[in-house]
Amino acid sequence: MNWSTQITTLLGTAYPIVQAPMFGVTTPEMVAAASATGALGTLALGDLPYEKCIAAIAATKRLTALPFAVNIFVNSIPEVSENLRSHYSKVRSFIATLAHQHGLEVELPKFEDIHLTDYREQIAAIIASECKIVSFTFGNLDEPSIALLKENNTLLIGTCTSVAEAQILEASGIDIICVQGLEAGGHRGSFHATAIPRIGGLSLLSQVHDHVDKPLIYAGGIYNARTLLAAKQLGAAGFQVGSLLLKSRESALLDFEKQHLSQVKESDIVLTRSFSGRFTRAITNTFIKIVDGTDYILPYPYQNKLTNALRRAAKAKENTDFVGIWVGQSIHPYREGSTGDILQELIREVEEATGC
Ligand SMILES: Cc1cc2nc3c(=O)[nH]c(=O)nc-3n(C[C@H](O)[C@H](O)[C@H](O)COP(=O)(O)O)c2cc1C
Repeated sequence: MNWSTQITTLLGTAYPIVQAPMFGVTTPEMVAAASATGALGTLALGDLPYEKCIAAIAATKRLTALPFAVNIFVNSIPEVSENLRSHYSKVRSFIATLAHQHGLEVELPKFEDIHLTDYREQIAAIIASECKIVSFTFGNLDEPSIALLKENNTLLIGTCTSVAEAQILEASGIDIICVQGLEAGGHRGSFHATAIPRIGGLSLLSQVHDHVDKPLIYAGGIYNARTLLAAKQLGAAGFQVGSLLLKSRESALLDFEKQHLSQVKESDIVLTRSFSGRFTRAITNTFIKIVDGTDYILPYPYQNKLTNALRRAAKAKENTDFVGIWVGQSIHPYREGSTGDILQELIREVEEATGC
C-alpha cells in the first residue's frame, strides 16, 4: 500500500501511524521506539506541571532526535465553591474508608493540598522545549494559545468525539483532527466532561469526513490490518493505536496489570466516571462497581487527584480491584515485545493485505 497521505506530509513521517498518547502508560522509551519505526511517537503530558513537562520532554529528546508529538489535557477547571469543598471531604472520607476496608492504607490529599495544572503552563513548557507537534484532548485550546503555538510553527492535532466538536476544531484553525470512536481505550476526549456524545467509530469517522475539511486521524479499536484499512476506507488519513501497545516492553504497566489484560472479557470493558470524574474506558473492578452511579464522584480533575493515591497503593500491592487499567473495546492478544516490533508487524500485515 502507498502509505503517503496528507498526514505523512504534515508530520514528516514514513507511515501515517500514530502511537497514541497514554498518560501513565507511555514512556519516553515508547515514544522514541515508535518514532524510530517511522510512525509518530506521542509523549503524554496529561496534566503535568511546567517543570515535569520540561523533564519528560528532555528525557524523550535524550532518546531520539526524530520528531514526536506531545499531548496535553485542555479541560477547564471547576470553580471552587463551598459545595465543592464539602463534596470533596465527603468523597475523601468515603474512599479512605473503602481503601481501609480492603487493606489499602492511603494518605488522600486534603482539598487545599491539590495543585491543578492550567494547560497554558504546559504550553509554555512545550514552546520552551521547542516541540513542534502538539495534540490535545478534553476540549479546544483557547485562541491566544492557538495563536502562540502557531507563531512558534507548531502543528496542532485536536481530538473530537462528535461532528460538532470537529467543526469547532476546524473553525479554530486546528491543523489535524483526531476522531475518537466510542470504542477507544482511555478517557473520552469529549469537550464536555459528563454529557458526552456516544458515537461509535464507524458512524463518527464517516460523518466527520463528510462534514469537515481537515486531515483526519482515526483512534479507536485499531489493532490489525483489517481495522486500520476499515478506518482508511471511511476517510482516515492517519491511524492512532493505543491499546495495541499496552503490553509492549516500553509500556509503564506493571507485569500483574499486563497479565490481567490477557484475561479481559468483552463485558469487563466499561465506560466509567468513578476514577477521574470524566468518562474513561477501562477494565471494570471492585472500585468501579462500588462507585459508579453513586454521588461519590467529584468533577474532573478533583476525582482524579483523589483516586491517584488509591491507584498507586493498589499498584504497589498488585491489587486489580482498585487499579485503573484503561483499555479499548477491541480485545486482541495484546502482543508483547518491543513497540517497534508491534508497529512493524502492523505495517507488514497492512502491506500483505493490500498486496504491496
Ligand atoms: C491507557 C490509555 C491512556 C490514554 N491516555 C490518553 C492521553 O493521555 N491523552 C489522549 O489524548 N488520549 C489518551 N488515550 C486515548 C488514546 O489516545 C486513543 O484515543 C485510544 O487509545 C484509541 O483506542 P484504542 O485504545 O482502541 O487503540 C489513552 C488510551 C489508553 C488506552
